[in-house]
Parts: sequence; structure tokens; C-alpha cells
Amino acid sequence: MPVVHTQPIAVYPGSFDPFHVGHVAIVERAKEIFARVVVGILDNTGKEALFSPEERLEIISEHYRRDDRVEVRSFSGLLVNFLDEVGASIIVRGMRAVSDFEYEFQMALMNRRLAPHVETVFLTPKEEFTYLSSRLVREVAALGGDVTGLVPDPVKLRLERRYRKATHPPTR
Ligand code: PNS
Repeated sequence: MPVVHTQPIAVYPGSFDPFHVGHVAIVERAKEIFARVVVGILDNTGKEALFSPEERLEIISEHYRRDDRVEVRSFSGLLVNFLDEVGASIIVRGMRAVSDFEYEFQMALMNRRLAPHVETVFLTPKEEFTYLSSRLVREVAALGGDVTGLVPDPVKLRLERRYRKATHPPTR
């Protein structure tokens, strides 16, 4: 019997370090298809993390504070377990270019193996953001480049604060 996806909730998972306009565009597209979108922030505090998972949760929640169709949560452990927790069976991922394909394909198949009822749906970003990645935003911001238009305002503010602090440490 085919699995019927009756649940209108989709989870959009990622590291989102930081959340940028390409991510915003994927959430907007997902909202055209699903009634509710849960942005799931992976609770990973790697060596190279710019913002802590708590900061990312705060920033992204601030961006969606007036949107009752978007819920922002963080998760640790397996993504498929997080889907169970929120009552979803759809994973939304953005696919920018062929270079994303192998990684995304492996993840989608692994998630299907772990939870056969889970389906991954790939959405494409706006053409003008296909080059955009969190890694590039981190690099440009760290080197003093202008990230206006590349990240939502709450992210820009936090980036400015972070790097202002780094270049002008408080004097005693
Ligand atoms: O934005 P990213 O960093 O490419 O997102 C990767 C993410 C969070 C989707 C992926 O790392 C993930 O799902 N991690 C949770 C652990 C897990 O479920 N692993 C097995 C499935 S591949």
C-alpha cells in the first residue's frame, strides 16, 4: 500500500549558521505547499560555529515572530526522530546546484531507510541566490564585507555586533 502523506506539516532542517535570504526563500516556497513549516535548527556546536544553537534559535524566531505558520525549534539526534516529535513526515531541503545533489541524495535515502514513511521534498531557491551559502556569508562578514540583502535584519544586526566586538575589543 502506498504511504499517503495526510499531514500538512513540513520540517525544514539545517544548521542555519547563519540563516540567510536563500533559506527565507525556501521557507516561503514551502509555505505555498504546506500549511505549517517547522524550521529545525540542528543543535551542533562545532568548532567553526559562528552562532550557538541558542543564538540561532533566538535570531530565527525573531525573524518569524509574526508568522503563525512558521515554528522555529532546535533539535539534536536523528532528524527522523525530530519529525516524529513534531508530527511531520515531510522534510524540505533546498537544492541550489548539481554540487548539492550527492550530499542531499545520500541524506534523503538514509532518512528513508531510517523511516520509510518520511519523504524528502527538494525546492529550488531564487536564481539570484543560487551562489549563496552560510559559509560565504560567514566569510564575507568576518572580513568586513557588506552582507546587506543577503541575510534578514536580525542576522545582520548580530553579525555586526559580533564582528565589531572582535575588531574593537572593549578598552579598560
Ligand atoms: O544545513 P545543513 O548543515 O546541510 O543541514 C544538515 C542537516 C541538519 C539536515 C543534517 O545534518 C541532519 O539531518 N542531521 C541530523 C542527524 C541525522 O539525522 N543524521 C542521519 C541522516 S543523514
